Amino acid sequence: MMKTMNDSKLPHSRVAKHIASLPKSGIRDFFELVMTMDDVISLGVGEPDFVTPWGIREATIYSLEKGHTSYTSNLGLLSLRKAVCNYVEENYSVAYDPVHECIITVGVSEALDLILRALLEPGDEVVYHEPCYVSYPACIQMAQAIPIPIQTVEQNNFSLNPSDLEQKITSKTKVILLNFPNNPTGATLTYDQKSEIAKIAVANDLVVITDEIYSELTYENQSQSIAAFPGMKERTVFLHGFSKAYAMTGYRIGYACGPADLIDAMMKIHQYSMLCASIMGQEAALEALKHGKNDRESMKNEYLMRRNLIVKRFNKLDLSCTNPQGAFYVYPNISSTGLNSESFAKRLLKEKSVAVVPGTAFGSDGRHHIRCSYAVSMDDIEEAMKRISEFVSEV
Ligand SMILES: Cc1ncc(COP(=O)(O)O)c(C=O)c1O
Repeated sequence: MMKTMNDSKLPHSRVAKHIASLPKSGIRDFFELVMTMDDVISLGVGEPDFVTPWGIREATIYSLEKGHTSYTSNLGLLSLRKAVCNYVEENYSVAYDPVHECIITVGVSEALDLILRALLEPGDEVVYHEPCYVSYPACIQMAQAIPIPIQTVEQNNFSLNPSDLEQKITSKTKVILLNFPNNPTGATLTYDQKSEIAKIAVANDLVVITDEIYSELTYENQSQSIAAFPGMKERTVFLHGFSKAYAMTGYRIGYACGPADLIDAMMKIHQYSMLCASIMGQEAALEALKHGKNDRESMKNEYLMRRNLIVKRFNKLDLSCTNPQGAFYVYPNISSTGLNSESFAKRLLKEKSVAVVPGTAFGSDGRHHIRCSYAVSMDDIEEAMKRISEFVSEV
């Protein structure tokens, strides 16, 4: 007999269990609140405060003027894939074939979702580090696999200790997921750490997904991608995009380079679920790769000055703050205030109108930390730090 709405249970029971059990992002609720308030200095948002450089915006306008409003190849414009592969070879020392080993996606976000869904079956385990980008455990769970976090610690500058990673590997592990420079800590990996992790991946026959979205914003410790280590090209999927380095978050353009069989599997999901990334965004991204270097470098220099300022200010307070080597975040330890990260962030917002993100948004161990983005002006950093200093002396 056909089931009617009245026969069914409560609406929430219709949602697949692995989706119903997903937590909502801690950041979102918090920033809904921030948006209702006036005069807030926000160190919360994880995106550049710069507008996309003019040359790139102009390329978008030309694209529209020329009437380029159609679909592209599912894999993305071949001209962009060629430029991406040249760029990756020049900057990360690993060569990919633009026809079979590269796909243009709707941001790194889509690329991550595609590769996880292409690789994982229920019960597979993905080993990744915490603190990490909020989407990692959720995307692993959406692919019906099991997230296995490894805690990185302040004493080690939040870098990943290869032996901690090795200990988490079981017969069910299929993937290692890495993001260095890291959101939220700004940590990077040394050449030796990458080399050790690569050896572990080869020895255990694992796929490595490396999210390189902040790699242009590396201030110290720059080294080749893990994809370039021996035995790694055939087992690494290199994810990157234009959001951070070129201040193009709204364009939603990213890419994945990797072994042809995995790119092909990603392409299948992408062609049915997304079709292609927007053509004007792809043409803008091509312009970014062709002529965006100076703008990219000058934004990076600006972030470096801001990093030096904010770290100096935190160190003047009684809050320990590691010196982040990349990205545009600091992740200070607020335990000396006696508050946990959520109370700290809520009270700082209410009492001093400064928004920061509680560390718990990035992993279960984040209760002693807050994330502050320094993708804001020097004046805002000065004012926010003045208010944080007052707050810390009052609690
Ligand atoms: C580590 C990391 N990966 C991926 C993304 C998403 O990037 P995109 O805008 O390319 O989807 C972000 C955005 O904050 C991020 O921090």
